[in-house]
Order: sequence, then structure tokens, then C-alpha cells
Amino acid sequence: MCGIVGYIGNEQAAPILLDGLEKLEYRGYDSAGLAVYDGTDIRVMKATGRLKVLSELSHGGAMLPGCAGIGHTRWATHGMPSDTNAHPHFNKDESIVVVHNGIIENYLKLKKLLETRGYQFVSQTDTEVVAHLLDYYYQGDPMEAIVKVMQRVEGSYALGILFKDHPEEMYAVRKDSPLIVGKCAHGSIIASDVPAVLKYTRDVFFIQNEEIVRLEKENIAFFNIDKEEIQKESTRIEWDVNAAEKGGYEHFMLKEINEQPKAVRDTLNPRIKDGRIVIEELGMTPEEVAAIRKIYVVACGSAYHTGVTAKYVFEGLARIPVEVDLASEFRYRNPILDEGTMVIIVSQSGETADSLAALREAKKHPGVRVLGIVNVVGSSIAREADHVMYTWAGPEIAVATTKAYSTQLIAFYLLAIRFAQDRGKLSEAEAGNLIKELQRLPEQIEMLLANKERIQRFANRYVAAREIFFIGRGIDYAISLEGSLKLKEISYIHSEAYAAGELKHGTISLIEEGTLVTALLTQEDLYKKMISNIVEVQTRGAFVLAVTNVGNTEIEKASDYVIYIPKTNPYFTNSLAVIPLQIFSYYVAIGKGCDVDKPRNLAKSVTVE
Ligand code: F6R
Repeated sequence: MCGIVGYIGNEQAAPILLDGLEKLEYRGYDSAGLAVYDGTDIRVMKATGRLKVLSELSHGGAMLPGCAGIGHTRWATHGMPSDTNAHPHFNKDESIVVVHNGIIENYLKLKKLLETRGYQFVSQTDTEVVAHLLDYYYQGDPMEAIVKVMQRVEGSYALGILFKDHPEEMYAVRKDSPLIVGKCAHGSIIASDVPAVLKYTRDVFFIQNEEIVRLEKENIAFFNIDKEEIQKESTRIEWDVNAAEKGGYEHFMLKEINEQPKAVRDTLNPRIKDGRIVIEELGMTPEEVAAIRKIYVVACGSAYHTGVTAKYVFEGLARIPVEVDLASEFRYRNPILDEGTMVIIVSQSGETADSLAALREAKKHPGVRVLGIVNVVGSSIAREADHVMYTWAGPEIAVATTKAYSTQLIAFYLLAIRFAQDRGKLSEAEAGNLIKELQRLPEQIEMLLANKERIQRFANRYVAAREIFFIGRGIDYAISLEGSLKLKEISYIHSEAYAAGELKHGTISLIEEGTLVTALLTQEDLYKKMISNIVEVQTRGAFVLAVTNVGNTEIEKASDYVIYIPKTNPYFTNSLAVIPLQIFSYYVAIGKGCDVDKPRNLAKSVTVE
């Protein structure tokens, strides 16, 4: 979702802005723009479409000379993608310029008010309201105007702002939209996310809600909403710069699929000590764990799907009732949150607007513990949760999640085993066996990855498919949900996932000659039931791709194509079965010529409702 980069320093700003925006391309966008102060005026250039259009238009930034500038990639919310709606946005005399991430919820009211005061709007965006409102309040003191605007706007924002009559300064402020700041040898920089600044600095400041930043060439100062200067600690980013580069792979998604063994190991190994699970960061005693009466897992998209798996694992191992909720539903449905409830918010980015709102809703209730399972260190969800368990997937750039999803599953397995032990539901020996199975997962994922050509060949046959179904029971239903989402989001082929037992209640009418049905059969106790479901769809003409455990060879009689996964504990099969489904989706999308890393209409970090 929208990307912001800003720079003030000794170097030419525009090339730095373009470079930073390129690193944020993964967030998803449909237009881009730059504003640079050239010593006399602020000059703006915008272009609909990919960043390279803007780069060509501005001759790699050379057409916009100057050492202070802000840049933006826009993911349209208010108003179509167009040059006019693209950011940056000016005030009326082009002396103030703004880039914005987030949504100004009361923009219509503010727009009407500003119109009655003679302001004219050229775009359909909510952001333009901010530019005019700043103009309205500006009396020569940028900070004063910014504070007044903060008091008037409702919603979420990360803003980068330049004032023509303060050419040695750049301003930034945020509420509920991420923003970071860094100081490098030749200047100061702001951005929506770490990859944009890594080339220049590894020490970044995470801006908190309602903090204002004044950046100068040599200096960065932070203020609260009362304009009092505050001190902030920087965070050292330890990632290898290459982690945010493609590293020889054709796409980030393929690279990240291949990084899963490492991501799983990195998330798992530090939490296993002497054959026991130690989750130090949880900070809960066994008595506190034993007192949990109910768990809600709340998340969006693929992160929600890990919650569906977690329900089976927690209920099965720890015997704690689990409800899984979509964050966008949970936040408005007045859930019953009483003493003894734990709410687990799962998020790769840690910035998903609905998940963050669900977290805040949960925190309003006394006696409720909120645990965040988060990948991005220092993100809003990580900061606001009572407890944080990080997934160590490293930066995930492709819009469609793969390695973050896999590490979220690992976090859940670890928690479920630990909770089961603390509640006396699992002996030391049983837990030990499960841990051994967990430790084999990275190697088993490697085996599946080594076999990707076979899946690639199969995928090539389905490039022209109109729709594809995924079916499974129990944990296999959870895998089906993820397999189906992965396929549809990057290949644009319509796809549905069904609990296999539900087929007869409507969906089976969609099956016709040649329809591909991907059947998941990793749960041995449900194997026979699944065979019956497969026969039902085959009888109606479906072509059945079965994904099952190695050794289940009799499935070859009942299906048309089989992918075997190595044997593991039934609770952990999702970690293996999802790999061929990711590979399948990737190659179908490639075969169709889709932009797999940046699928249409999607954003990596969904920071608006
Ligand atoms: C799908 C995908 C999304 C995210 C969802 C939540 O491949 O990536 O469905 O899982 O937008 O995002 P996070 O985990 O950042 O909260």
C-alpha cells in the first residue's frame, strides 16, 4: 500500500527518491510522483502506472534538480489512478507540498469547509484536504500548522511535507500508518519501510503515533503533539541488504518460496533448548498459561489461514477452545472478551489496519492478554501487543506471502506444544517426539523444493483453466484455503476452497468435465472420507490432483495426478503440503504472464480498512 520516501541533504534528491520508491514497489501502487525544491520553487512530476514511467519522464530524476524532495507511490483509495490523483499534492500557491499514506476519514466534511473558504480542489483524493488545511493554518511556523491539522483530521496518516519558505527542512508525521526515519552520511531520509533506506543507513527511528519529525541535512528532531522535543532511540536493522534484493531469482516470490527452510529453522531453533520449547519473549508462567480459558486468533488473509490451522493444533494438543476470526469482522462484532481470554493477532507486516484495530479492541477489555505473532520488528502490532513472538522470516517483498506464512505456522506449533505441556495435556516424552518432528520440517521442505520441476510441468497444463477447486477435511481444509488464495491472487484464476464434506451442499454443481480439483489428504484418520469425496467429483468429470503423504499409493487409482509429501506428525502437515501448492500457483501465474510479485489491485501492507 502507498509508499513514501523523502530526502534532504547534500545529494540530488530525485534519484534517491526513485531508488527508495523502487524498493517499496512491493507494497503495491498504481501511480507515482516526486516533488523537489529546486532552490526557487517546488517542482512536481507525476505519472500513472509503473515507477519506470516516472523515471523515464524525469530522466532518472535529472529533470528535477534539488537536494530536498518527497516521493510517493499511490495505491488508489479515493479517486481513480491518474496523474491528477497521484501524489504529491500542492496547496493553492504551490508553496506547501504533501505525500500521504492512509485515509483521512472526515475529508468530505473538511473539503466542504475549505471550499466555503475559497479553496479549490483539483483531485478526488482525501490527501489534497491536508495540503489545503496546512495552507489554511500556516502562519510561518510549519510545526504549528501541522499540529492544527493533526487536531482536525480523523483517520490514518503518514505524511511527508515540504514548505517552500523553510527550504532547509522537511517534516514528517504519522498516525496508524508506518513511517521510519534515518540519518545517513550526506543527509536525512524518511520512508514507509526499511528496504527504502537500507542503502543509506541501518540505524532507523520508528515514528510513533502523533509524533512529528523535523529533518534537516545534519539534524533530526522529534516532537510530540504539544511541540515538545522528545528523545528517541534508533533501532539497528540487522538484515543483510541482499535479503531485500532478488539475489539471482527471477521473482521475489520464487526466492521467498526457496527461503522457507531457512525461515522455518530461524523461527524454530532459537526456541528449542535442550530438547524443550522455551519461548522467553512470551513472559508467561505455566500457571498463567494454565489459566487461559479461550483463545481467539484474529488476522487477515493468509495470516487468518494460519489461524484456521492453529485451531486444530491448539484444540487437539492443548485442549483449549479456539475461535478464529477475520480481523475486519472481529473488530465490529462485539466479541465476548472476558478474563482468561487470550487474543492472538497474526501479521507479517504488523501494520494491517484491521488487525491493529482488532488488537486495540481486545486491549480495551481487562483481563484479556494480547499476543502478537509478527514478522516486522518494531511494527505497530509488535509494539502495542502485551506479548510479541517474532517470526524470523526476514523481509518478505512479494505481495503474496509464502515464507512469513510458513513461519507463522511454526510459531503456532511451538505455542501449542508449550501450552499443552503447561496445562498437563502432553508428557515430556510426547512433547519431545513432536519437537523432533518439527526439527525435521526444514529438511523435508527442502526435499519438496528440490522436486519443483514436476509441479511446474503440471502447472503448465492449467494456465488456461477458468476455475480450480481445493478440498480437504480438518487441517487439510485449512491448507485448501491457503492453496486457493495463493492461486487466485497471483494467477487471477477463479478458485474456491471447500471443506470436502460441504461439497454436496451446493458446490458440486459447479464441477464439470475437466474441472481441476486439488484434493488434500494428509490426515490419515480422514483419508477414507476424502476418497469418497474425490470419487464424487471424479464421477462428475473433475480432474483430480491429490496431495497426500508418501506411502498412500492406492490414491493413484482414485485420482489423476499425485504429489507426495514426506511423513510428519498430522498436526504439522500444512507446513509441507503448502509448498507444492505455492509452487503450482507460482508457475500457473508465470505461464499466464502475470506480474507475480505485484499482482493487480493488491498491496503488501494493507494499512487502510
Ligand atoms: C496473501 C497475503 C495476504 C496477507 C494479509 C495480512 O498472500 O499475503 O492475504 O496475509 O493481507 O497481512 P499481514 O500478515 O501483513 O497482516
